[in-house]
Amino acid sequence: MDTSWSSVRPATLPQAPSLRVRSNMLAKSIGPDLELRLLEVRHAEQFFAMQMRDKENFSKWIPWKFDESYTVESARNFIKGELQKFVNNSGIELGIWHKEQLIGDLGLNFIDWQNKRADMGFSLTADFQGRAIATAACRALLAYAFGELKLNRMEMRCSKDNERACALARRLGFTQEGHCSEAQWLHGRFWDLLLFGMIAEDWQQ
Ligand SMILES: CC(C)(COP(=O)(O)OP(=O)(O)OC[C@H]1O[C@@H](n2cnc3c(N)ncnc32)[C@H](O)[C@@H]1OP(=O)(O)O)[C@@H](O)C(=O)NCCC(=O)NCCS
Repeated sequence: MDTSWSSVRPATLPQAPSLRVRSNMLAKSIGPDLELRLLEVRHAEQFFAMQMRDKENFSKWIPWKFDESYTVESARNFIKGELQKFVNNSGIELGIWHKEQLIGDLGLNFIDWQNKRADMGFSLTADFQGRAIATAACRALLAYAFGELKLNRMEMRCSKDNERACALARRLGFTQEGHCSEAQWLHGRFWDLLLFGMIAEDWQQ
């Protein structure tokens, strides 16, 4: 008897478009000198250097652990994991470049093709915040998710106390749909998360 998960998939599973074929996001301009590009293994040193320059910003609301065990190899393994999701058609992680400098990343963390939804995450180095760059990057990602991948729903989960992330969600037109008490364990304590959602028909280009 075939006991693999594939054998119990409903026959009605929607046909998922291939992320690799839908490649418009692999290099996309989002403004003067600003570009989104697929994060690749060859970017590991740059990715690590970006995180090390701005450890506090990157680990304040995201569970990155930048202790002595975190090395370029750890950054490389993170990127490999994200690329594996891309190959498996279940996610995509993009770098945000200002000229040739990597200044942040964002992506679809998990695409649920059955229900046509995905959740997104994003980070920007502190010295590039406050200039609407994350807004532009997220808008491009939403256009890709709704327009090209034909997803029906996008989600974001942000700590209630992460004011910049919550402001970004609202600026993008997300609706706060839920308050998840003590849903994230970070820096030795629980934090409440806000669930933000947007459906395709509410997406304004
Ligand atoms: C969340 C994060 C990406 C938001 O970055 P951000 O710089 O606040 O967002 P944007 O790049 O869109 O910039 C918005 C700012 O540009 C300003 N702005 C200027 N022109 C603008 C325009 N045309 N449109 C929108 N905003 C504009 C806004 O007023 C806002 O400034 P303010 O914060 O002083 O009010 C950033 O804080 C971050 O990386 N944090 C650490 C990682 C993190 O928390 N990730 C999320 C985990 S859930």
